[in-house]
Amino acid sequence: MRQEEETPVEELSGRTAVVTGGAAGIGRAVGRRLAREGMKVVLADRDADTLEATAAELRGEGHEVTAVPTDVSDPEANVRLADAAFDAYGNVHLLHLNAGIGGTVPLLDPDPEVWQRVVGVNLLGVVYGIKAFGTRMVDAGEDGVIVATSSGAGAEGTSYQSGPYAATKNAVVSVMESLYGELRDRKATVRAALLFPPLTESSMGNPRVEQWLRDNGVPTTLMQPEDVAELLLDGVRRGRFYIRINEAENERLFGNRLSPEFFAWNERITRGRAEAQISDTAPDGHLW
Ligand SMILES: NC(=O)c1ccc[n+]([C@@H]2O[C@H](COP(=O)([O-])OP(=O)(O)OC[C@H]3O[C@@H](n4cnc5c(N)ncnc54)[C@H](O)[C@@H]3O)[C@@H](O)[C@H]2O)c1
Repeated sequence: MRQEEETPVEELSGRTAVVTGGAAGIGRAVGRRLAREGMKVVLADRDADTLEATAAELRGEGHEVTAVPTDVSDPEANVRLADAAFDAYGNVHLLHLNAGIGGTVPLLDPDPEVWQRVVGVNLLGVVYGIKAFGTRMVDAGEDGVIVATSSGAGAEGTSYQSGPYAATKNAVVSVMESLYGELRDRKATVRAALLFPPLTESSMGNPRVEQWLRDNGVPTTLMQPEDVAELLLDGVRRGRFYIRINEAENERLFGNRLSPEFFAWNERITRGRAEAQISDTAPDGHLW
C-alpha cells in the first residue's frame, strides 16, 4: 500500500504543533510554516536565548507561539514540555521530534562520550518525546501525527565516517516504524511519520559540507530549511509515512533543484544495502 493512502491530518488551522529543536534551522522553518497555516506552535529547544528570539520573531509576525526551553535528552524535560503544551492548548495534533546534533568520531577511539551525547539527543530524545506525548495524543481521540527527523546519513546506506550520527538516525527509522505498528494495532487516530531532510543549510549543513559530499561521490545539492518545512507540510497533508523527496516532489515542490544523479545515487545506495544482506556480500556498496 502506498503511504499516501493513510488518513492525513485534515485540518491544521487552529490546531497545535510542538517542534523540538525549534529555535533554529529546520525546526525554526517548520515552526514558522505551521504557524502560517494557522497552527498554535510550541517551540522547544535547549538553546533558551535563540529559542526566545525565534519565538519573539514569530510572534512579531502575528503568530501564536509558546517557547519552552527543553533538553530532549532529559526524560523529565519532555514531560514538562508536554505538560506545558497540553496546559496551554488542550491537545497536540502535530508533534515534530526534530532536535538533533552531529557526531563524528572513529569507533576505534576509546572515549564513549560523543556516542553517549549523540544517542541521548538523537535517539533517546525521540523515544522520550513519544513517551511524554504519545499516550496523551492517542487518548484525546483526535487526528494527529508524530513525526521524527531522521537523515539520509543513516537511513539510506551508512555514512560511516560519522558513526554516532548515522547509527542514531538509522535507529530513529526503526523507532518510528515500531510506533507506526503500535498505532495501527490500536486503531489510533494519531499516525507516525518520518522526515528525511536532504542536505540543508543550517548549523549542520553548509556549502563546505556540500562540497565534501560531492568530493566523496554524493551528488547532493544544498537545500534551505524552508524547503524542508514545505516538504514536511506536504507530506503530512498527504498522509505519507516516509516523507522524503522523490523525483515527483523534486519537480512539484522544488523545480528539479536536486539532480537526476542524486536520485540515481540514492536508489543505488538504498538498494545496495538490501541486496548486500540478501546476497551475503560486504557493505562496500552502501557505505558513503
Ligand atoms: N541540515 C541538514 O543537512 C540535515 C540533514 C538531514 C537531517 N537533519 C536533521 O534535522 C534536524 C534539525 O537539524 P538542523 O539542520 O536544523 O540543525 P540546527 O543545528 O540548525 O538545529 C537543531 C536545533 O536543535 C537544537 N538542539 C540540539 N540539541 C538539543 C537538545 N538536546 N534538546 C533540545 N534541542 C536541541 C539546537 O539548539 C538547534 O536549535 C536534526 O535532527 C538533524 O539531524 C539535518
